[in-house]
Amino acid sequence: MPSVVDHEEGSSSDDFSDLPTPLTVPVSTMLSSYKTTNVLAPLVRCSKLPFRHLCSLYETHVTHTPMILAQEFSRSQTARISDFSTNADERGVFWMEPKHAGSSATFRPHPEDGPEIRDTLPEDVDEEPPDRGLIRSITYHRPRPHSRLPPTPRPPTKHSQLVRGALVVQMASPNGASLADAAQLIAPYVDGLDINCGCPQSWAYHEGIGCALLRKPELVRDMVRTVKGRMGWGWPVSIKIRIDPDLKLTDQLIRTALETNVSHITIHGRTRHQASTEPVSLDGIRFAVECVRGEVPTVANGDLWDLADAQSMRDHCGVDGVMAARGLLANPALFAGYDKTPRHAVEQFVNLSVDYGFIFPLFHRHLAYMLESHFVKPEKTYFNALPSSVSAIDYLSSRGLDFRAIKQVPMWDGRKGREDLSRCI
Ligand SMILES: Cc1cc2nc3c(=O)[nH]c(=O)nc-3n(C[C@H](O)[C@H](O)[C@H](O)COP(=O)(O)O)c2cc1C
Repeated sequence: MPSVVDHEEGSSSDDFSDLPTPLTVPVSTMLSSYKTTNVLAPLVRCSKLPFRHLCSLYETHVTHTPMILAQEFSRSQTARISDFSTNADERGVFWMEPKHAGSSATFRPHPEDGPEIRDTLPEDVDEEPPDRGLIRSITYHRPRPHSRLPPTPRPPTKHSQLVRGALVVQMASPNGASLADAAQLIAPYVDGLDINCGCPQSWAYHEGIGCALLRKPELVRDMVRTVKGRMGWGWPVSIKIRIDPDLKLTDQLIRTALETNVSHITIHGRTRHQASTEPVSLDGIRFAVECVRGEVPTVANGDLWDLADAQSMRDHCGVDGVMAARGLLANPALFAGYDKTPRHAVEQFVNLSVDYGFIFPLFHRHLAYMLESHFVKPEKTYFNALPSSVSAIDYLSSRGLDFRAIKQVPMWDGRKGREDLSRCI
């Protein structure tokens, strides 16, 4: 293992001064308009601010918060403080390839959109949802113009467009009213809300949340409608579902959700009873995508461990985006083409965690996930027994990671050394 991190210091080719303002587009537009949209899954206890920021350094365009219980969030300040934190810099800026070259005319930089959010649903919504094409999907989040830079100053192709990443909050609720209350509180900080219709845990099922919603299509539709009733018809509300063993019920869930202008649908290709050790069903995802019939963008989720998996998911399922959960925990730089966590990702993670503040158990757990494939068994045992952040950092320093070196380059420049994919820990 090399003892010093070999970061190129700002060379003349690192001139970011002529960059256009990144486009800020709704997640659904990102999915429908760009070739490869990569998504970090919602992860209880794990997809918190430092880890989301880390993934956004490595070609993860959309990130999710962990599932948040809407009722607690809307009622309790303590829950809000513990469940959610964000930062103006956490969204990345990316070069993205339009699906259709020269199709940028429909995009607008977000801050100039203006407040075109309706306070109430159109009166005729029950009879006839408004034409999707006429609705401007916008959010209340107002990004700072230049808080992040893309990984490279020059576009990879002549069609590449500079696009700002997005943050979606995931909530769980057995009813629309709590969701709407929570959405109203969190709206200034996020780019949309996702409703969890897939948590398989029995406590969640008994609370009427997560998987309990999979066979209650009307309730899901009404929840989406209630949030939009509060936030505006164009405010992005998506759903994340699992497939049902009875695929007719998946069809029914999707068709009903589409009645209410759900912004996009994420499909986890396992049923409620399938553990994550069982292989994901790409055929099941493809079936769900066919049920959507192109009315809204779709995202596939399940068993994405490398770029080849991402490509075969896109090819097989016909989705607009792909979402990874355990794959990104194991290797947050997965979408940037690394086959295992590169050393600079570990260094970035430590710095982000120290800067943002991250409690030791989560900090430790993330490092254990990221380093799993680098450690031999005794190292794993030793590392897992470390009692504090300081001891973990000391151990990594003794293994040659250099946290001060990476501090000298901008935080967003996480892919330095990307050309040399072998430069791992
Ligand atoms: C630690 C952990 C926490 C999770 N938390 C959530 C959550 O908060 N909301 C959710 O919809 N799914 C959650 N999931 C499920 C993942 O989002 C994802 O659907 C599942 O892991 C399948 O993707 P994978 O095969 O890429 O891991 C969680 C999964 C893991 C491993």
